Amino acid sequence: MLTKRLFFLFAFVDAISASTRAHQSCHETAAKLQLASTTILFTSYHQKGESIPLPGTAASCSNTLANITANLCRVVFDTASSSSSSIRMEAWLPDEWNGRFLATGGGGLGGCIDYPTVQNGASLGFATFGTNGGHNGSVGFDFFLNKSESIIDFGHRAIHIEAEVGKALSMQYYGSSPRFSYYVGCSTGGRQGLSTATHYPNDFDGMVVGAPGVEWIRIVTQWYLMAQRFGWPNTNASEYVSFEQFQAIASKIVELYDEVDGVKDGILDNPSHLHVDPQLFACGTGILNSSLCLKNAQQVRSFRLAYQPMVDLEGNFVYPGFPFGVDVTSFAQNEVNGSAFFPVTQVRDYFRGIVYNGSNWSDLSLTAADVEYAVKLNAGLTNTGISEAQLGKFREAGGKIISFHGRADQKVPSELSEWYYNGAMANINATLDDMHDFYRLFFIPGMAHCRTGPGAWNVGQVAPLDPNTTDAEHNTILAIQNWVEQGHAPDYLVGTKYQGDLVSSTIKSQRKHCVYPLRSKWDGVGNTTDSSSWNCVAWDKY
Ligand SMILES: *[C@@H]1O[C@H](CO)[C@@H](O)[C@H](O)[C@H]1NC(C)=O
Ligand SMILES: *[C@@H]1O[C@H](CO)[C@@H](O)[C@H](O)[C@H]1NC(C)=O
Ligand SMILES: *[C@@H]1O[C@H](CO)[C@@H](O)[C@H](O)[C@H]1NC(C)=O
Ligand SMILES: *[C@@H]1O[C@H](CO)[C@@H](O)[C@H](O)[C@H]1NC(C)=O
Ligand SMILES: *[C@@H]1O[C@H](CO)[C@@H](O)[C@H](O)[C@H]1NC(C)=O
Ligand SMILES: *[C@@H]1O[C@H](CO)[C@@H](O)[C@H](O)[C@H]1NC(C)=O
Ligand SMILES: *[C@@H]1O[C@H](CO)[C@@H](O)[C@H](O)[C@H]1NC(C)=O
Ligand SMILES: *[C@@H]1O[C@H](CO)[C@@H](O)[C@H](O)[C@H]1NC(C)=O
Ligand SMILES: *[C@@H]1O[C@H](CO)[C@@H](O)[C@H](O)[C@H]1NC(C)=O
Ligand SMILES: *[C@@H]1O[C@H](CO)[C@@H](O)[C@H](O)[C@H]1NC(C)=O
Ligand SMILES: *[C@@H]1O[C@H](CO)[C@@H](O)[C@H](O)[C@H]1NC(C)=O
Repeated sequence: MLTKRLFFLFAFVDAISASTRAHQSCHETAAKLQLASTTILFTSYHQKGESIPLPGTAASCSNTLANITANLCRVVFDTASSSSSSIRMEAWLPDEWNGRFLATGGGGLGGCIDYPTVQNGASLGFATFGTNGGHNGSVGFDFFLNKSESIIDFGHRAIHIEAEVGKALSMQYYGSSPRFSYYVGCSTGGRQGLSTATHYPNDFDGMVVGAPGVEWIRIVTQWYLMAQRFGWPNTNASEYVSFEQFQAIASKIVELYDEVDGVKDGILDNPSHLHVDPQLFACGTGILNSSLCLKNAQQVRSFRLAYQPMVDLEGNFVYPGFPFGVDVTSFAQNEVNGSAFFPVTQVRDYFRGIVYNGSNWSDLSLTAADVEYAVKLNAGLTNTGISEAQLGKFREAGGKIISFHGRADQKVPSELSEWYYNGAMANINATLDDMHDFYRLFFIPGMAHCRTGPGAWNVGQVAPLDPNTTDAEHNTILAIQNWVEQGHAPDYLVGTKYQGDLVSSTIKSQRKHCVYPLRSKWDGVGNTTDSSSWNCVAWDKY
């Protein structure tokens, strides 16, 4: 009894002193860091379970608190990227380091540290870094106005600097270099990842790029040009299709065509394979009621046009459209306070801050010619277009990429990933097998942009992680690690849909998501909510 008590006492004292040591070493080691062009702003030591405030975060960044997911040392620092620009970054350095480095990207217009992903990385033992990409906040333009170096940071340099400084900092802090380097980002973070693979092919051993926002200028402007096709900003035009109409038609399409892929589950496995006639949704067909149906031939035409691909000034295809059945209502805006309003801020900010350099440019005036001009200008290489998909050196360096994209993505059309993948393949004259050796793409049916939706969408991209699905089959970070370090290339990922999308809740369904160009098909026997009932097969016609 006594020895047992003593043992607990010693164990307790041990734990305390380990924590004290870690605490001291956090401050002492951080004080000794020698990093080029870098100013350490502060360091703090935290215990797993703490929630920390994030003072000084721009209002447009959604996180005001971060959750500490391991006992760790946090180092916040600025690194100059040129004589007139700098990047805010932070490191989360777990006491129980797994010997690996993980960098994260941003979303939208960048400008915010992706705390949920940083939390997840640290919980898995990675020395994990976040970056604001060289500007402060995701809404605004003055941080770009006449600041070409900050534009370059956003375009292609910030992640490279994160990799360089992050690896050096990890090495100095832990006393040994990270054995492997990884990157994870979604949307703009996905674009930043692919841009880095092209321009800095030796930065990472493995990269996870979700719904990559490549052809970035076309993505954000597409939303406006689509809306203009159905009358915006004249919300009183007879061809104007309302938010409510778009939404009702999108859900009706899911309802009508649900079983085309073989399973009635509220999910269109590949909506771009559907052939839908918008005439079905006209008044008089009995499909939609009199307030939601398309009122006239102009509205039917508007609806059809909204989903058409983007073309350049000569009418050549430049960018895929959204498939019918995807809810694009974020671009179908009714008027707010009596005037037309577009809720997406990126176009306004990009053209004011980067293209036309003035606060007076109005997004109401955007035309296809403005888009072509901006794409041609490609300031800071922000666009990251298909022609820039040059992954040969990344492949030669042994790098691996896992990409995923929701088939119900309402912001970045899922076909873009297919198009980029095929473009990257053509650019290096590779075969599909060559591509599979280093770059694998997984479509996720029923997933919206980066996350959420009726599909089995969770592959570890939101915080917190569920310990039950934190393995190489269910979690993309562990999948890329397994590929890079063990040579196990994933043939599929298993996605999870939780009740209410809460990982603390029960699992509603799980499903395999297969490596492109295969798809997962129900075996016709097992429970469709069980991943073992799905197999990877080639697409058949349906
Ligand atoms: C970012 O903006 C916030 C709010 O305006 C400010 O408090 C903070 O100091 C800024 N941070 C940086 C890195 O400029
Ligand atoms: C942190 O945890 C709280 C409480 O569990 C949660 O509400 C919040 O969303 C979490 N924040 C992040 C950034 O994960
Ligand atoms: C940006 O540069 C233009 C042209 O040199 C100048 O007219 C304008 O005042 C500058 N704006 C800012 C905010 O510095
Ligand atoms: C606006 O500034 C960017 C770089 O900051 C420059 O490339 C572009 O030419 C400028 N545009 C105009 C209309 O002056
Ligand atoms: C049409 O359906 C919508 C949604 O169910 C409902 O809100 C609306 O009142 C209906 N309109 C008519 C005229 O029945
Ligand atoms: C509409 O008016 C309300 C109330 O004045 C205001 O809070 C809101 O910001 C306005 N919305 C827009 C988009 O102007
Ligand atoms: C649409 O018409 C209403 C009523 O006639 C008017 O108040 C509103 O300003 C108009 N909206 C636009 C965007 O023209
Ligand atoms: C921008 O608009 C304001 C008010 O509408 C005007 O006073 C100013 O001269 C304009 N500036 C430029 C550079 O056009
Ligand atoms: C592309 O690869 C094929 C087969 O490997 C080869 O025959 C062909 O010459 C290559 N073309 C170019 C342009 O490199
Ligand atoms: C996770 O696994 C534990 C133990 O097997 C179980 O009790 C718990 O219900 C599981 N959680 C979920 C969300 O399935
Ligand atoms: C399939 O599994 C779910 C639980 O995941 C269960 O609720 C449902 O009843 C099962 N369906 C069949 C047909 O067995």
